[in-house]
Amino acid sequence: MDRGTTAVVTGSTNGIGEAIARQLAAAEVDVVLVGRDRGRLDAAQERIRTAVPGARLRGELADLALLSEVRALADRLRDTRIDILISNAAVVADLTDHTSEGVQRTLATNHLAPYLLLRTLGENLAAAGQSARLVVVGASPTALRSIPVHLDDLGFENARAHGFPPSFRPFVAYGRTKNMNAMFVYSLAEQLAGTGITVNGAHPGIIRHTGLGRDSARGLLRAFGWSQWVNPLLPGPDAGADTPVWLATSPEVNGVTGRFFVRRKDVLTAAHTTDPDRRARLWEESANLTGLPVRS
Ligand SMILES: NC(=O)c1ccc[n+]([C@@H]2O[C@H](COP(=O)([O-])OP(=O)(O)OC[C@H]3O[C@@H](n4cnc5c(N)ncnc54)[C@H](OP(=O)(O)O)[C@@H]3O)[C@@H](O)[C@H]2O)c1
Repeated sequence: MDRGTTAVVTGSTNGIGEAIARQLAAAEVDVVLVGRDRGRLDAAQERIRTAVPGARLRGELADLALLSEVRALADRLRDTRIDILISNAAVVADLTDHTSEGVQRTLATNHLAPYLLLRTLGENLAAAGQSARLVVVGASPTALRSIPVHLDDLGFENARAHGFPPSFRPFVAYGRTKNMNAMFVYSLAEQLAGTGITVNGAHPGIIRHTGLGRDSARGLLRAFGWSQWVNPLLPGPDAGADTPVWLATSPEVNGVTGRFFVRRKDVLTAAHTTDPDRRARLWEESANLTGLPVRS
């Protein structure tokens, strides 16, 4: 990459996000790591500097579950010349886990944070006539086909609507937010069409040795599902970083926008994620929840 290229990567204190930050640093990109804990942010930078001597890194502290902190982060980054913005942070939280701002934590972290951050910074960069690539790390379009977003219940109030046994429900809710990611990618790409800003989604693959779901795996999921994350046959975080980093840096995807990729291949996601009326509804509800105008 050209020296002076700057990337912002959320959720870069662990797992796939840290691998994304490391791979970008190895490609001589200046990387702004976003994390919610100063100690983990410093430790991740230390690990990356050990792997990539001379890496140019900066840490930004923000709890992305809190809209106030996402807003403050967007303000702090407003004057940074961002070329790459990768939304990767995600959690699997209990349905009843609400933040101090009263928002269900999975919805807040996985959907509202990228909606607020990427919309604000994307529109800002477009208005300044800059070009940039925005990438949202989603999840498997195949696995998500059967769990459409419930547009009347974005905050997972109706627990029973998230299936049985109850120990699966945090993962179903997580899956719904990952469908929100795809819907948001298509809508933001439409909003920014004709500017220098591209927006694409990526499924990283099923990746072992990450922290996702560690806190919420209970019951059947602890017995069976959790083993998936530590299965030695699954690829590690560097493989998960491959498609997001390729989308962020490769000349092969110059100008490509509003698409979703798995293993560097453009794939179709479920019709319930592409439907224009459903996307418009999610966009509007998300604007209301984040305090942004529906149209800027
Ligand atoms: N692993 C897989 O098999 C898989 C499959 C499909 C999709 N994905 C997607 O890949 C992405 C990365 O997941 P991962 O598996 O690498 O999980 P991970 O190891 O748990 O990493 C998640 C990252 O998000 C950060 N994060 C969580 N909540 C945050 C908050 N409130 N504020 C700021 N940062 C926060 C975590 O920070 P802390 O270090 O502070 O916890 C961590 O750095 C996610 O979008 C996930 O949906 C993963």
